[in-house]
Amino acid sequence: MKALKQDMFVTSALPILLLMMLVASSKAIFFDKKNVTIRNEIPGETINIQCYSSEDNLGSHDLAYGASYSWHFRVNLWGTTKFWCDFTTKHGSGNYGVYTRNLDELCNGLFQWLVKENGLCLIMDALDDQLYCQRWKKPPSLL
Ligand SMILES: *[C@@H]1O[C@H](CO)[C@@H](O)[C@H](O)[C@H]1NC(C)=O
Repeated sequence: MKALKQDMFVTSALPILLLMMLVASSKAIFFDKKNVTIRNEIPGETINIQCYSSEDNLGSHDLAYGASYSWHFRVNLWGTTKFWCDFTTKHGSGNYGVYTRNLDELCNGLFQWLVKENGLCLIMDALDDQLYCQRWKKPPSLL
């Protein structure tokens, strides 16, 4: 009888132990706070950004030269959280992903985007602060 009880303990505790190990190893991805910061580095110009995820809309923000906008969040349990922003400048515009799970490996939780005349650059913390840059998707609006 006693042996049977021990058996039951082992079989019921093992899945829980495995689950705890899984949670611990994915902690960095799922439970740590992520910080996205967007800085306007176009001299003499005010830009507009509108950022959102499938759950949050952060509204419209004008950023003067040198100004930053930042927010933080936790990734959902499924790891599917993504944030996008619409950027509008006098040099070009476009919609870009500013947080996705793939970027996590490059950034250690801090996603610092620089808005430049040619486009958008991400500081890759995990790669000696190298810049990953993308050009504007759309030319400047004439309207
Ligand atoms: C995000 O990180 C930057 C740089 O460390 C910091 O200045 C800013 O206050 C942080 N923002 C939030 C919302 O935590």
